Amino acid sequence: MKIIEIEGGRQLKGTIRVSGAKNATVALIPAAILTDEEATICNVPEITDTEALCDILKMLKVQINRSTESIIINPKDMNNIEITEKFSKKLRASYYFMGALLGKYKKAVMYFPGGCSIGARPIDLHLKGFEALGATVRNEKNKYIVEAKELKGANIYLDIASVGATINIMLAAVKAKGTTIIDNAAKEPEIVNVATFLNSMGAKITGAGTSTIKIVGVDYLHQCFHEVIPDRIEAGSYIIMGALCGNPLKIDNVIPEHIDPLLSKLEEMGVNLEIGSDYVIVLGSNKNLKATNIKTAVYPGFPTDLQQPFTVLLTQANGKSKVTETIWENRFMHIPYLKDLGADIEVKSQTATIIGPNPLIGTQVVATDLRAGAAMVAAGLLAEGKTTITNAEHILRGYEQIIEKLTAVGAKINIKEI
Ligand code: EPZ
Repeated sequence: MKIIEIEGGRQLKGTIRVSGAKNATVALIPAAILTDEEATICNVPEITDTEALCDILKMLKVQINRSTESIIINPKDMNNIEITEKFSKKLRASYYFMGALLGKYKKAVMYFPGGCSIGARPIDLHLKGFEALGATVRNEKNKYIVEAKELKGANIYLDIASVGATINIMLAAVKAKGTTIIDNAAKEPEIVNVATFLNSMGAKITGAGTSTIKIVGVDYLHQCFHEVIPDRIEAGSYIIMGALCGNPLKIDNVIPEHIDPLLSKLEEMGVNLEIGSDYVIVLGSNKNLKATNIKTAVYPGFPTDLQQPFTVLLTQANGKSKVTETIWENRFMHIPYLKDLGADIEVKSQTATIIGPNPLIGTQVVATDLRAGAAMVAAGLLAEGKTTITNAEHILRGYEQIIEKLTAVGAKINIKEI
C-alpha cells in the first residue's frame, strides 16, 4: 500500500501546470484501435489508469511506443482476444474496449470493469446502445460477450446523459452502416475531445458537446495525430488547494470555460482569482470566505468529480454550506475523514451540511477513492501538523506527478510504500 504524508500549514506559491485529461485519455487509448494505422496522441498523462490501459493494449498485441507525454499506438497486428478480469477490473474505463472492439471486429469479450466504489455504476445504457446497433449481449458470470453480424446505425435515446455510454456508443457506431443519432447525450468536454480524435481519423461525427450527436458510419479510419485537452478536474483540484493555501498560486494550462461553475462558486465565496485565457491565479487564501451551496450535475453543471475537494474548502467558510450529490449515490466517503480532521459535517441522504470555519488538525485518513484522495490531500495541506493518507494509490490513478507538482510550490509532502 502507498501512503502520502503531508506536513500541513505551509503556503503554496508558484505555478502548477495541468496535465492531459484523464477522462479523455482513458477513452482515446481504446479508441485508437479502431484504425489499422498509427495514432499519435500527445499530452497523455503518466497516471496508473493510462498504464492499465496500455497493459490491455499489450495483451491484445497492439504495438505501443510511449515517450514522455505522448503515445503512438499501432494496432495493425492486434488480436481480438478476451479481456480477462485481471485487466478489466483495474479501472472503469476498460469498458471502452467493449465499444471499440465491437466497432472494429463486431465482437468484444470482456469482464465487468472496475474503478472507484462511488456507486453501483451499472453499464446497462452502454449495452442497450450496442443492442440498438444490432449487437447481442450475453452475460456469463460477470463476463460480457457482445457480438453482431452487422452493426447498423440507429436512433438511441439515453435515459441518463451518461459520459461512458455516450462515448462507448460513439466507438461502436463509428464504423456501423448508416447513421446513428444519440439523444440526451452527455456534453462533457472529454466527449468532444474523443469525437475530434475520431474525426481526425476520418469518422463523421457532428454535435459532440450538445445533447444530440450524429454519427455517419464510415468504412475506414486512418492514421492521425491528436492532443489531449487539459484535465479540468486536476485543474479544479489545484485551484481549490490554492484557495486553501495559495499565496499566490498559478494554475497553468487550463481551459477556464471547462470549470465555469467552480470559478463562479469560488468568486461567490470571496476567493480572489485572476482568470486568464489559459490560466487561473489564486491570488491568496481569503480567511473570510462566505458559505455557499453546491449541487452536482452533468456538464455544464457543478462537476461531481470536484465535489469532494470542494467540500474541504467549505469547512473553512463562515456559516452553513450544503453539498448535494446527484450523480453518484456513494460519494461521501471522504466525510468521516474530514470529521476526523476537525470538520463539522453532517450527512443526510445525498446532502452534506457543513458548518464552518473549523481549524483542521492533521491525523491519519484514508483515500477511499480517487477524488476523496484529492480531498484528503487538500485537507492535509491546510491542516496543522502531519496528515497521513493511506490507500494513496487511488490518487495516482488520476493526478500525474502530484507529489512533485505540490513540492515545487512549497508543500511538504512525500509518498512511500509500506
Ligand atoms: C465518468 O464516469 C467519469 N469517468 C467519472 O469520473 C465521472 O464522475 C462521471 O463520468 C460523471 O461525470 C470516466 O470518464 C472514466 P456516467 P461514467 O456514465 O462514465 C448512471 C473520476 O473521478 N449510469 O456519466 O462511469 C451512473 O450510475 C471519475 O474521474 C447508469 O445508470 O459516469 C451514474 O449515476 C469517477 N447506467 C450516472 O449514470 C449506465 O449504463 C452517470 O454516470 C451508465 C451510467
